[in-house]
Amino acid sequence: MMGKSNMPFSRDKSFSTDKPVQSGVILQKNKDSGLIEVQYEIRILDSSYLPQIMELQQLIIENLLRKETLQPFPADFMEEHLGRKGFVLGVLSGKDLLAFRNVYFPDINDTEWNLGIDLDFPSRILNKVANLQMVCVHPSCRGNSIAATMNRHAIRIIKDLGIHDHVCATVSPYNYWNIKILLECGFIIKKLTKKYGGKLRYIVHQNLHSPMSFESGSSQSVVLTNFIKQHEMLSNGWYGTDLNVRKEDVRLPCYENMLLAFSRQTEPLNAG
Ligand SMILES: CC(C)(COP(=O)(O)OP(=O)(O)OC[C@H]1O[C@@H](n2cnc3c(N)ncnc32)[C@H](O)[C@@H]1OP(=O)(O)O)[C@@H](O)C(=O)NCCC(=O)NCCS
Repeated sequence: MMGKSNMPFSRDKSFSTDKPVQSGVILQKNKDSGLIEVQYEIRILDSSYLPQIMELQQLIIENLLRKETLQPFPADFMEEHLGRKGFVLGVLSGKDLLAFRNVYFPDINDTEWNLGIDLDFPSRILNKVANLQMVCVHPSCRGNSIAATMNRHAIRIIKDLGIHDHVCATVSPYNYWNIKILLECGFIIKKLTKKYGGKLRYIVHQNLHSPMSFESGSSQSVVLTNFIKQHEMLSNGWYGTDLNVRKEDVRLPCYENMLLAFSRQTEPLNAG
């Protein structure tokens, strides 16, 4: 584990690298597609895990149905997350890394990664914005809600550290599973824009101290691929709050069958 002295924000007792943040059993698919039970631990990873993180990222990229849904990180940027400008949660089974979720604390003038800039936050709060960056779950372990579990721990740790008030993330409109997970973890879709050299992304946000509430009964659904309509709604005081499939099988996604639900906030938006 990373020595606490290497981590600028690690003096806080809530940021313990000494013990797992969770342990338990998940189901993993073996080579014959049978399911076996494996013990796991979720830990905050130190930089010695960088090669395994890069290896898992590569495997995930090779298996993506749509390459543009994941923005790959070079090793030096990934390393920045490992304690210097963020932290990485890993799901480990023995020495094997089954999944990771990284969190980044961007500089206030970082137009690529400080998503508060994209959301027009006042400059005085840009130092309060943290990012959930990349999440990867090994294909053999999907279906255990590992991403949602890691997100919840990541958000709790950010809250406990007490430095950041806002958490943002980007997600591709074509990444059904991750949109669903982010919305279930308390994020709200606030913007549809191009990031990372022209890739279409939703920007999602949650205020750690004052969650938004929405008018009941006034939600409107838009087909996931109707980006013109979505952009118009997001520009006119609507927020993306839910994602549903019109027809059954979510593992064979047909994006035209997916509906994004938009809602209005109960009170006028306070940019903070
Ligand atoms: C997004 C991701 C992390 C979610 O993994 P997860 O936590 O295991 O997902 P869940 O447990 O919530 O899965 C719910 C269901 O969707 C299925 N599912 C999840 N991701 C899937 C995928 N990429 N392809 C096909 N099915 C998938 C699961 O098998 C499960 O099905 P089940 O209910 O029949 O068991 C995972 O899909 C992934 O690693 N994707 C590639 C990397 C990526 O796109 N990251 C986000 C951008 S940084």
